[in-house]
Amino acid sequence: MQSDTELFQPIKLPCGVVLKNRMVKSAMSDSLGDGTGHPTDAQTKLYAQWAMGGIAASIIGEVQFTSDFAEKPGNLVLNVDADLDRFRPLAKSGGQNESLLWLQLGHAGALSYAPTSSPMGPSALDLARLKCDALNVADVEALPAQFADAARLAQQAGFGGVQIHAGHGFLLSQFLSPLFNHRDDQYGGAIANRMRIILDIISATRAAVGDGFPIAIKMNSSDQLEGGLSEDDALQFAAALDQTSIDLIDISGGTYFPGAKAASDGGGTGPYFLAFAKRARGVTIKPLMLTGGFKTHAQAVDAVASGAVDVVGLARAMAIHPDLPDQWATGNLLEPAFPRFAETPEGGITAWYTMRLTEIGTGEVIEEISDLHRAIEMYEERDAQRTAVWLEHFNE
Ligand SMILES: Cc1cc2nc3c(=O)[nH]c(=O)nc-3n(C[C@H](O)[C@H](O)[C@H](O)COP(=O)(O)O)c2cc1C
Repeated sequence: MQSDTELFQPIKLPCGVVLKNRMVKSAMSDSLGDGTGHPTDAQTKLYAQWAMGGIAASIIGEVQFTSDFAEKPGNLVLNVDADLDRFRPLAKSGGQNESLLWLQLGHAGALSYAPTSSPMGPSALDLARLKCDALNVADVEALPAQFADAARLAQQAGFGGVQIHAGHGFLLSQFLSPLFNHRDDQYGGAIANRMRIILDIISATRAAVGDGFPIAIKMNSSDQLEGGLSEDDALQFAAALDQTSIDLIDISGGTYFPGAKAASDGGGTGPYFLAFAKRARGVTIKPLMLTGGFKTHAQAVDAVASGAVDVVGLARAMAIHPDLPDQWATGNLLEPAFPRFAETPEGGITAWYTMRLTEIGTGEVIEEISDLHRAIEMYEERDAQRTAVWLEHFNE
């Protein structure tokens, strides 16, 4: 039985909560929010399918604590203005079958969706495809309480944990990255300063949710950009995380900086950041999760059995087969048939996977998305509709 392998052994997180196996559905921005920051039925059905498919935990990508710096107008927004009762059915459906549903708390910073935001990051940038203003010290110092409040609301609504998003070029990843962070105050300069706000956020979040609630973090092993966060600095960050109350360190890499390499567009034949995870193992005893590039059962089993990581993060594979963990547990070691495209316009792969999540949530096949240009159009049309709803709702 495959369910005897390490991949199917439970693991207890430092907070005491147990993951029933070693597979977590990594954060994906599903763009299924209703435009006012609240969940839709399609979203509730999507997370039910992942929960029923045997995954230990699923992470909802890009849940915002403010509507001012969202990644997309389909994001959820969780703050005091949100109607918690509208979040509870989602928490319940994704928490079935002893699966945990976590919210990834984020702020897109310089990469905030321009039609609904005035993007702001650690420092002002004026590049051809990326312009933003700088957050002032008071804005930065407000962040720990904002993350903490959202985490407390997540707990109250019945979600099983949170993940702090410090990867992929969004705000906290921008603080870590010398490319985005040119500050000369206590939040810029050496890596010890660049990570400071994240450590403050973890402390505030833990104080808000208590000892028994999972708090994970997603971090970049490197930005994969010249002058961005280096592996050596990322390793120092991992060492600092060891001294915090974090429960799980999810290792990823790459950014959504315009034109840059993003993990969700990656090809390749195996896990992307395994070498870094092995280095991180040397500086922290925290449970490690590795996300990016897992394509086969053998790769997932090896990553855990070798001791390199404790948990395997699966994103695109879970969009192809929402019940992959159960399939593998029962000996059907199927390899997800990842789609191949003759032509891949920028943003096309992400658009395809996002529309694929809509298919799972609604139960309706969308034939047209096999043409990536059409997938991008559909994705953008929906964002335009949601932008109108968002602006009307949040500017009231
Ligand atoms: C449609 C889509 C949306 C994504 N949204 C997020 C997100 O909101 N937060 C995040 O941390 N990563 C996000 N990712 C990246 C994945 O979590 C993951 O890091 C990446 O896809 C590589 O893992 P994979 O090879 O298992 O797909 C997204 C990926 C896809 C395909």
